[in-house]
Amino acid sequence: MKRISLIAVLGLALFTAAAVAESPGGTAALATRDWAVQTFKNTCSACHGTDGAHPVPLPGNPPPIIAGQYEDYLVQALTEYRDGQRQNIIMAPQAKALTNAQVRAIAAYISELPSPLHTLPRPELAH
Ligand code: HEC
Repeated sequence: MKRISLIAVLGLALFTAAAVAESPGGTAALATRDWAVQTFKNTCSACHGTDGAHPVPLPGNPPPIIAGQYEDYLVQALTEYRDGQRQNIIMAPQAKALTNAQVRAIAAYISELPSPLHTLPRPELAH
């Protein structure tokens, strides 16, 4: 009986280890698809909208539409906010705690959200 529960615990530990990524600080951080979905829902959506396409109109520094943006663009933007090459008082703290694996996971998720960008009017093309 004892042996079976030990195996179960080991199995669970291995399963958990497979779903986490090592962060620079050494602590394990989730970077799964589910983590990305939940993080977007619980955090990012407050400003970028629940679908990433209807941001709240914050005065002065309105959050952009990010749904459907190229994945590598999102990876670069988030990495630059985190590391300070791109400075923004609102986004820097949002990106600060993200590991590389988490940046990739959330960028992948956001890039797959349907984007309205291609439907924006282009008045300069009308004549
Ligand atoms: C408190 C509001 C707020 C929250 C929460 C927030 N953002 Fe932002 N986000 C902004 C604002 C404002 C900008 C525009 C910043 C700038 O001018 O560089 C922005 C910009 C971005 C950009 C750059 C887009 C581009 O076109 O260059 C990305 C990517 C992004 N946010 C992703 C996220 C993700 C992922 C989260 C959640 C982890 C998140 N944001 C949470 C307000 C927010």
